[in-house]
Amino acid sequence: MKYGRIVGWGKYAPSRVLTNADLEKMVETSDEWIVTRTGIRQRHIAGEGETTSTMSVAASRAALEKAGLKPEDLDLIILATTSPDYFVPQASSQVQDRLGARCGAFQLVAGCTGFVYGLATAQGFISTGLYKNILVIGAETISRNVDWKDRETCVLFGDGAGAVVVQACDEPTGVLSFVLGSDGSGALSLGVNIGAHATITPEAIARGDHYLHMNGREIFKFATRVMGQAALEAISQAGMVLSDIDLLIPHQANLRIIELAARHLGLPMDQVFVNIQDYGNTSAASIPIALVEALEQGRVKEGDTLCLVGFGAGLTWAAAVVRWGVSDKPFGMSQLFKPVQRVTERAQVTWRVAQTATAMRVMTARRALEKRTATAVQAARSKASAALLPLYARLDKRYTKDKK
Ligand code: ACO
Repeated sequence: MKYGRIVGWGKYAPSRVLTNADLEKMVETSDEWIVTRTGIRQRHIAGEGETTSTMSVAASRAALEKAGLKPEDLDLIILATTSPDYFVPQASSQVQDRLGARCGAFQLVAGCTGFVYGLATAQGFISTGLYKNILVIGAETISRNVDWKDRETCVLFGDGAGAVVVQACDEPTGVLSFVLGSDGSGALSLGVNIGAHATITPEAIARGDHYLHMNGREIFKFATRVMGQAALEAISQAGMVLSDIDLLIPHQANLRIIELAARHLGLPMDQVFVNIQDYGNTSAASIPIALVEALEQGRVKEGDTLCLVGFGAGLTWAAAVVRWGVSDKPFGMSQLFKPVQRVTERAQVTWRVAQTATAMRVMTARRALEKRTATAVQAARSKASAALLPLYARLDKRYTKDKK
């Protein structure tokens, strides 16, 4: 099986910045309300001539340069957005043309979750060996769909784009797992009320149906419920436990949602990347922009394991575990039955076994806890320890052999 490794990345944010002080002059709000309720201090707003496709092209050129690739090396372009230049045609083809790429391109609509959906789709094409280099973009010009007189939405959003090049490789790295979710029963909590069900009429425009509407409280509740859950599922699917994650990169919609998700996971905030203060909610662009900023700030190192997690319109949610570069660090549970490679020092062997033992205990204890039986927890723990005894013995024997 091939793995999809991220080999190039880039971002673009419009130069026009709209601060909370600017918004105070436009609607009845205050810097204090926006900062305490959302964590946002400023956002970037697309200027004249700037659209989802132009920002995508800028971010993609940076990503291609970083990857050392030419546009014609691309096999596929996936553009996640909810604010394309036109209803039809799709902005992905404009991006393909302007880049000078000669490959298929499609637009993916999954709200703010779109980029992670795109990454998962790229991994699908790569793992089957169909494609080698895939450009995944998250880009939004959401400011054009916002009612600048509605203080409940206009303070939240910003524009921008982020892009990555996902490349096929044989090493177990890159996108290790993903979880995609959808619950259309909450569809009307967030959206733009025009489309096939209701054509654009002067009355609809007068009602403001073409603007983004949102039930903030409902979305807040939904987001805090699914973020931690989706992250844990993706981590477990990668055969890992939370302690294997070096950095969580969540969708930047509201600092309080991020903090609650981190608390739910039991993750300290210094292991969570936050840049909402500078960008606001850039929807599908938020996770790739945050990923690129985390890299620029040196928060991601070779061998680190990241968890990307988001929620959005649909309603949808998604999470992915991404290994950055290649490393000897154990993969958590997945390493349990793999031969010990490149491990020659006894301390390293012991560390790996201890890590694996902890991973097993945590998983069995978590399952037992779900049944709410204290005796089951105890039984599971001793079972896990007993199951590990032959492994300890095998590794010790192997270590002694290696030494000779
Ligand atoms: N400035 C001042 N007051 C405001 C503002 C504002 N900009 N906006 C709302 N208020 C008022 C409300 O009118 C309300 O007043 P009232 O009590 O007199 O009725 C009061 O502040 C409290 O309103 P709440 O809705 O309870 O405020 P809350 O603490 O829930 O915060 C917020 C609102 C920030 C929208 C929050 O609910 C939220 O972040 N929800 C999730 C939004 C989200 O993530 N959306 C996007 C997800 S998907 C995507 O990214 C496309």
